[in-house]
Amino acid sequence: MGRLNDKVCIITGAAGGQGEVAVELFAREGARILASDLKPEASARIAKVAADHPGRVHYVAGDVTRGADLDAIVKAAVEHFGRVDVLFNNHGVMVGSPFLDTTETQLDQVLDINVRASFLLSQRVARQMVAQGGGGSIIHNASIGGVVGFPDMAAYGASKAGVAQLARSMANDLRAWGIRVNAVAPGGIDTPMPRKYIEKFDDREGVWKAMEQAHLTGRLGRPEEVIYLVLFLASDEASFMNGAVVAVDGGYSAV
Ligand SMILES: NC(=O)c1ccc[n+]([C@@H]2O[C@H](COP(=O)([O-])OP(=O)(O)OC[C@H]3O[C@@H](n4cnc5c(N)ncnc54)[C@H](O)[C@@H]3O)[C@@H](O)[C@H]2O)c1
Repeated sequence: MGRLNDKVCIITGAAGGQGEVAVELFAREGARILASDLKPEASARIAKVAADHPGRVHYVAGDVTRGADLDAIVKAAVEHFGRVDVLFNNHGVMVGSPFLDTTETQLDQVLDINVRASFLLSQRVARQMVAQGGGGSIIHNASIGGVVGFPDMAAYGASKAGVAQLARSMANDLRAWGIRVNAVAPGGIDTPMPRKYIEKFDDREGVWKAMEQAHLTGRLGRPEEVIYLVLFLASDEASFMNGAVVAVDGGYSAV
């Protein structure tokens, strides 16, 4: 029996660096998974997890900024698996731009995807959880950049502070139905997101080294080092965790 035995889990941003690992680890722990991301087809890694766990992983393409796609994600989970027990709001974009240069378009995009879409998908999922009698766990992927001020990331940091606050407020509003809501706040994690960010610098190696040294661990995290925490928050082991924003940042925020 796995730690997520038969729980129906929606994972967004499922084709990203952390998302693919979440699909793998959740499946290994017995979850039934509705995975979603922008690309029309499941990534090779998600397809392999689906093949290894027949009938337990279903992929739906969707843009989380579109209400119709959010409806389709929840509908697909209910049609395939009958209910929703867990939502891992993991989709996200990072805008790395000095405050004075950040455009309205960049600001709108990062707030739209990171905050607005997380709010609206959570609302749809929570309504489903209430309709099926209550209980459930919602986890947001925030960022330590929403707690401390990362350089050149005012828009991203503001969005992730919003996501963290969403966890606290939702936990309050959903307490009557026994729905727990928490957020994880990772430090730098080695995924396509920071790799893409450093592309614009001439001294990429130097920028990467400086990012590593900002963590007490002297390195960025690996996706599974975040996802094991998410897995715990999704499971019944975390029954006393509610409204928390948990740093998993290699000590970034400790100094
Ligand atoms: N990597 C880091 O250093 C780091 C640190 C702290 C927090 N985070 C957060 O972790 C989460 C996962 O990021 P990651 O590190 O795996 O990066 P990633 O770029 O590999 O994954 C992000 C995923 O979100 C998806 N996405 C973006 N816009 C979308 C949209 N409109 N609709 C649907 N899906 C969309 C992307 O397609 C991508 O697969 C994000 O919320 C990110 O902000 C990352």
